[in-house]
Amino acid sequence: MRILVGITGGIAAYKSPQLVRLLRKAGHEVQCVATRHALQFVTPLTLETVSGRRLYADLFADGNDHTTEHISLKDWGEIMVVAPATANIIGKLAGGIADDALSALLLAFTGKPLYLAPAMNTQMWENPAVQRNLARLEADGVHIIPPASGSLACGTEGIGRMPEPEEIMEHLELKVENPTTQTNSQFPTTHSELPKVLVTAGPTYEKIDAVRFIGNYSSGKMGFALAEALAKKGFAVELVAGPTACRTTHPAIHRTDVESAREMYAAATALFPSCQAAILAAAVADYRPAQTADHKLKKQGDSGMTLELVQNPDILATLGQMKQKGQRLIGFALETDHEADNALAKLERKRLDYIILNSLRDEGSGFGVDTNRVTIFGSDGSRHTSPLLSKAEVAELIVARCLA
Ligand code: C5P
Repeated sequence: MRILVGITGGIAAYKSPQLVRLLRKAGHEVQCVATRHALQFVTPLTLETVSGRRLYADLFADGNDHTTEHISLKDWGEIMVVAPATANIIGKLAGGIADDALSALLLAFTGKPLYLAPAMNTQMWENPAVQRNLARLEADGVHIIPPASGSLACGTEGIGRMPEPEEIMEHLELKVENPTTQTNSQFPTTHSELPKVLVTAGPTYEKIDAVRFIGNYSSGKMGFALAEALAKKGFAVELVAGPTACRTTHPAIHRTDVESAREMYAAATALFPSCQAAILAAAVADYRPAQTADHKLKKQGDSGMTLELVQNPDILATLGQMKQKGQRLIGFALETDHEADNALAKLERKRLDYIILNSLRDEGSGFGVDTNRVTIFGSDGSRHTSPLLSKAEVAELIVARCLA
């Protein structure tokens, strides 16, 4: 079946790519249509990758036949589902307003099954205006997939959650005549179907003896912020973390804890082939002690002590060698002098698509602190310097610029 999936701007949009994957897995063709606000929550790259079709989001984009694309899509689609459907799109459809690609398509899509999966905060859901609009749409023959109760993104509990993609599938199947979908048991229920990004974060500890190590001041905050930002945009994340106090919250993040550079190397090289992209934010020790002692080394009289160090493998450079067509590789550079030149040399040497430079000269940037100012260099010659932002904001910027 040919299915149109509309996506609007709610936090539940992070579940939309999984719905698309499930529909494709069940043998359907899917065309995604997103609002501008939806793309704050999920990237065009994600939707195009999971659907295998160009995203339709802008009535006036280059390459669109401006006046008729929504008309040809309404003929193409056999059923349509909007998940999540915000109060805004519900109001627009009930009121007959068509001021962007999705609302124009919704108005044109008549005489065929149309489903809305509303998702919003409880007060908005219970607002008489929203309920009035829903009642009117139901009277017009639109199927409303009821929201579930539970914890909401705004921190409260109540009705308003978008049902899980598997449940939405069941709703579609129940009401569609001649369903060609398969049984629910065949649908994956994990995040394994989402496009995956590998992230490394935190420091590495290089063991000297039973109680001592060589480490660095990396807190892991930047890498963990990247993992959260990616998950919110609809990616599954393989997070490989050195020793850090940071915690993850998003269910689409799978975390592997490691201690040394060599352990991080083993985890990252094993995971990279199944990922679409890798962002290496870890502060990996360049050297480790040549020997490590199982016991605590004792002080030797009054004399000093020499530690012999050997080089660790360069994870980023190795992934650069492993990189296949279509995979993106993003590294960080923390430089104290000739920053831009060093970063650009690294971009080329390690075969990166982007390198994120943070300079230690900038107050508020670097280890431990919650803020950062970065310059993003692309292998295409692009260069973008951010203002001083929170690490969460920097993470969103990096995801938007490097993975869009
Ligand atoms: O060459 P340099 O250490 O400055 O490169 C920094 C970048 O390389 C970071 O993205 C860091 O995560 C990565 N790196 C790595 N493995 C190493 C050293 C650095 O992945 N052994």
